[in-house]
Amino acid sequence: MKGVILAGGRATRLRPLTWVTNKHLLPIYNKPMIYYPLESMQRANIQDVLITSSAEHLPHFINLLKAGKDFQLKLSYAIQEDAGGGIAQAISLAEDFAAGQKILVCLGDNIFTHNLTSAVRDFEKQLKGAKVFTKRMPTENKQYGVVELNNHGKVLSIEEKPENPKSDLAQTGIYMYDIQVYDFIRKLKPSGRNELEVTDLNNCYVKQGTMTCEIMEGWWADAGTSFDELLRANNLVAELIKSGKH
Ligand code: G1P
Repeated sequence: MKGVILAGGRATRLRPLTWVTNKHLLPIYNKPMIYYPLESMQRANIQDVLITSSAEHLPHFINLLKAGKDFQLKLSYAIQEDAGGGIAQAISLAEDFAAGQKILVCLGDNIFTHNLTSAVRDFEKQLKGAKVFTKRMPTENKQYGVVELNNHGKVLSIEEKPENPKSDLAQTGIYMYDIQVYDFIRKLKPSGRNELEVTDLNNCYVKQGTMTCEIMEGWWADAGTSFDELLRANNLVAELIKSGKH
């Protein structure tokens, strides 16, 4: 299985911090944000990782991370020409890189303690389908996709930032896909905010009955969503390091 880290987007919610810098290069305690998804990939035994970003920012990542030796990873890079094209559009850039293998996708601003190793191992053996990682969040928090499960843990629906959430399971920015993903993306239509939405993509698998869900343990921070989440991510990492568990 190969890894894909999405480090594009306009990051309007973090301006002025992101007027000249890509948000995934902002500090989270003692490291640039992008280090954390890279470390998550490394912990999950993924060796080949693609980083996608805009033509403007990609050279900054190459300058910082080079071929990936410091992380014992083999890094590749892909330009996302339309920075606001959406998560699904960015995932489509991985088609040649993946060369028929399944992918683990991480949004570059998602920082978490959950270990993905066993999920990667199981997904590799699985014939087809996708997996979405979720986290229990207060339902008054309206900035996430929401995943609805039945009593047997089967995914019934995923709704993008619903007014009336059907559950307290937030869709995080961590996903696993089989090779069907690129054909599904080709059939997507832009949403109201003119993006190819990851929720629409994931619902293709829900409709097929092949979407599974794993609820993450530990903490999860969506560091790029707001100044408060950015601060929270910094504090959580600082606590982790000071507790000696990192
Ligand atoms: C995106 C997805 C959303 C998901 C979130 C997780 O939201 O559309 O479903 O819950 O990432 O980080 P965005 O940050 O693009 O608003």
